[in-house]
Amino acid sequence: DFSVQNASVVKEFSVNVTSDSLVITFTPSENSFAFLNAIEVVSVPDQLITDDASTGSVGLTSQALETSWRVNMGGPTVSFENDTLWRTWVPDQSFLVNENLAKEFSNIAAVNYDVGSALATKDIAPQTVYGTLTEMKSAGDPNSNFNVSWEFTVDPGFQYLVRFHFCNVVSKSLNQLYFNVYLDSWIVAPNLDLSELAVPYYMDYVTTSAAVSNKLRISIGPSSLNNAYPNAILNGLEIMKLNNSAGSLSGANSLVPSSNSSSKGNVGVIVGASVGSFIAVVLAAILFVLCRRRKRLADQGHSK
Ligand SMILES: *[C@@H]1O[C@H](CO)[C@@H](O)[C@H](O)[C@H]1NC(C)=O
Ligand SMILES: *[C@@H]1O[C@H](CO)[C@@H](O)[C@H](O)[C@H]1NC(C)=O
Ligand SMILES: *[C@@H]1O[C@H](CO)[C@@H](O)[C@H](O)[C@H]1NC(C)=O
Repeated sequence: DFSVQNASVVKEFSVNVTSDSLVITFTPSENSFAFLNAIEVVSVPDQLITDDASTGSVGLTSQALETSWRVNMGGPTVSFENDTLWRTWVPDQSFLVNENLAKEFSNIAAVNYDVGSALATKDIAPQTVYGTLTEMKSAGDPNSNFNVSWEFTVDPGFQYLVRFHFCNVVSKSLNQLYFNVYLDSWIVAPNLDLSELAVPYYMDYVTTSAAVSNKLRISIGPSSLNNAYPNAILNGLEIMKLNNSAGSLSGANSLVPSSNSSSKGNVGVIVGASVGSFIAVVLAAILFVLCRRRKRLADQGHSK
């Protein structure tokens, strides 16, 4: 029972296509009609979404994902011209819980994808995302101890994949930046070490259980390590909804039983979410072989 009021709506989904055709079906609800203004089907590299150490148990690569939020911290809107996979990244101000605690920083030219330890490529996130950030506004106080937090609306009853993008373009020398990263009240990265300058890095986390509230809070704050000046940064963030056990991404359809969660089920997800009026962009992720190299690098990243 999808419906669009006055605004235009873009919906983006990602699925692992395991056959040579992708069927997308729009079905009108009773006494209504279905429509679509445009559609894009984009093939993305296998390395974009993988089952690595922190997400492995969920089996991400056999799930259907819906992009809930894609945000460029401390920078402008990044549109398809500046993204190798035609994604759009929106600015973060409107998601900040307290704008007075945060400030923006930008050094786009500094971003260096080419060093050996870089986990990220331009397909993971573009330079304008890694080269701009939101950081603590410590106002010269070396005892600053607060979090910078963002809040995002989510659908209760679903698990989410949260991808954090970091790139330390702000420190002037090594070993100056260690901080904590939280997802709701859960600490996902204690004493994160971003000493390595200007190297793009990302981390994936899947929420441990289905969301109970309709808000997901992301926070960054100083670590308890006795390090230099307290600071914490975030460059970009993606929040993706995972299909539920019924193979659905729609709250309304969550009770419909489903025989299994095979790739057939994933195509069903697109159908289910497309009922009703619909102005849509569908991003179909064609993911074939798990890239071992990327997995190994990710494991190293997580063990840091
Ligand atoms: C997009 O890329 C163009 C050059 O290709 C550049 O001039 C512009 O500043 C970029 N915009 C953003 C928001 O990154
Ligand atoms: C930052 O947020 C986390 C998670 O909610 C909380 O446990 C911690 O006490 C907060 N730190 C500060 C300095 O407010
Ligand atoms: C897509 O799904 C198939 C079948 O489940 C699996 O073998 C393959 O590894 C998946 N692709 C990726 C990129 O994970």
